[in-house]
Formats: sequence, C-alpha cells, structure tokens
Amino acid sequence: MSLTTVHTVADLRMTIANWRADGLRVALVPTMGALHDGHISLTELARAHADRVIVSIFVNPTQFAPNEDFGAYPRTLPDDQKLLDAAGVDLCFAPSVDEMYPDGFATKVHVDGNMTNVLCGAARPGHFDGVAQVVTKLLLQALPDCAIFGQKDYQQLMVIRRFSADLNIPVEIIGAEILREQDGLAMSSRNRYLSQQERAIAPTLNRVLVSITDQAAKGADIGPLLAKGREDILAAGFDPIDYLEIRDAQTLELIRDTISKPARIFVAARLGKARLIDNHAIMPAHITG
Ligand code: PAF
Repeated sequence: MSLTTVHTVADLRMTIANWRADGLRVALVPTMGALHDGHISLTELARAHADRVIVSIFVNPTQFAPNEDFGAYPRTLPDDQKLLDAAGVDLCFAPSVDEMYPDGFATKVHVDGNMTNVLCGAARPGHFDGVAQVVTKLLLQALPDCAIFGQKDYQQLMVIRRFSADLNIPVEIIGAEILREQDGLAMSSRNRYLSQQERAIAPTLNRVLVSITDQAAKGADIGPLLAKGREDILAAGFDPIDYLEIRDAQTLELIRDTISKPARIFVAARLGKARLIDNHAIMPAHITG
C-alpha cells in the first residue's frame, strides 16, 4: 500500500511538514469513514487542487445527539484504507476520540443565526456545533491549502464557509457536486441502513426534488408544489419528513412564493432506520436564460 495511515496530530503534522518543505500543495477531505464513491469523487477533486491528498476518518461524537446513530454508525477502517489506497490518496488521518478530545477539553465553536437554526439545525439541535468544533480542529491540525466538502450536506458546507471566514482560518473551502447512484439516490454512508425494499423506495426523494426544481425554475408557485411533494414522499413510505423547503442558496432564508434568485430545495426524511437528506440547486429561468 502506498497509503500511509497516522493516528496522532503529531504524526499528521510531521508528514505535512515534510511535504511543505518540498513546496507541495496539500488538500484535506474530512470524512466519518464508511467510504463510498461519493467520497472518492471528493478525493479526485482534492487531487485536482493539490499535490498531496489527506483523508481524515473520524466518527465525531459531538455532532450526534444522544438519541442518534453514533453507536451504530458504520466503522470500516480496513475497507476504507483499501479504497483510499486504490484512489491514490497519500495519507489517512484516523485519530481516536481521546486524541481529538483529551481530558479537560472544553472549547466550543458555535455559528449563530439562520445558518444553524433551520433545516438540519432545527431537526438536530447541537449538530452544527459539533461539526464546527471538529472541522475547526481538523483544519487547524492539518492547515491544508484547501479542504473539500460534499454539497449533499449543503447547509454544513455553508456553516463551514461561515466559521472559516469568521475565524480567518487560512484554508480554501471547496464544495463538490453530489454523486448519485444510477437511479438518482444521493450517495451516503447511511444508505447502508436501508433494507432492499427501502432501497427501492429511496430514489423517490430525488425524483420529487427534480420535479419541483423544474417547475419552480419556470416560475410556478412553490406552495402547491411542496404540498404535492410532501404527499408523494409520505405515500412512498418515508415517515416523518423533517423538512421539504426551498431556501435562498446563499442566506438559507425561506422562500415562500416564487423563485427570483438562486435557490436550493432541501429535504430530510426518515425511511426505516435511515434519515436521508438531499438537495438541488434551483436557478430561475430568467437567469439561466
Ligand atoms: O460530513 C461529514 O462526514 C462530517 O460532518 C464531517 C464534515 C467529516 C465532520 O465530522
């Protein structure tokens, strides 16, 4: 294997310092492991931006609420390492919980306002505090030139852009397109929770988003579109729907009537044991021409 794995911040920094001494550019792809092709596409984008690619694998306890799936979250480090090696990734950083949060750890990172109060922030209180805390640490531990995050977690990407700018963290944050299965289901580590029957139902989410996106972009009134979308998602077997909303693509402010500026439709809904999320860009027809 040409992939090297390190488990401590000291070893991570030593490896990066050697690369820096050679004048190399470094990209970081933070993950929680259970890697799939979506993650691999992030490493390919990282490779296009840097000479050396690091993937961190850390199931971060502080971004899960007590009733969530922290314990059940798939931990597949040996398989992940094989995938990363095959993808030509240079370094895997897989710290323990004690390495990240040693005794006495007491610091929180909180992004205020609309960005964290809505969508997954409303459905998963405290989630983005945990994300902001761990991503701040990973960025400062590695200090890469750039870090890559998938747009499937679009709100997460916006939160990370916000605190990175606010805290002057000198890292370029790059968002990557959502990778989908052939039937349109957004790739996710949590798709592993789906039974065969649920897996057949799951692409409904993307189908509903595509249909609403097409009509909303042409200027249709979005209230009835969302009402019909909710009906279709529930009829397919999802329950509950945490949200199905259209928001401003930059500010995440709710849009209630018609689309006149770049927007985004967001969904989160439970199917069996899995809580699935997805989103699409909506560009009003007068902008796309
Ligand atoms: O998107 C994820 O996998 C996680 O939220 C992240 C960014 C790795 C932080 O734990």
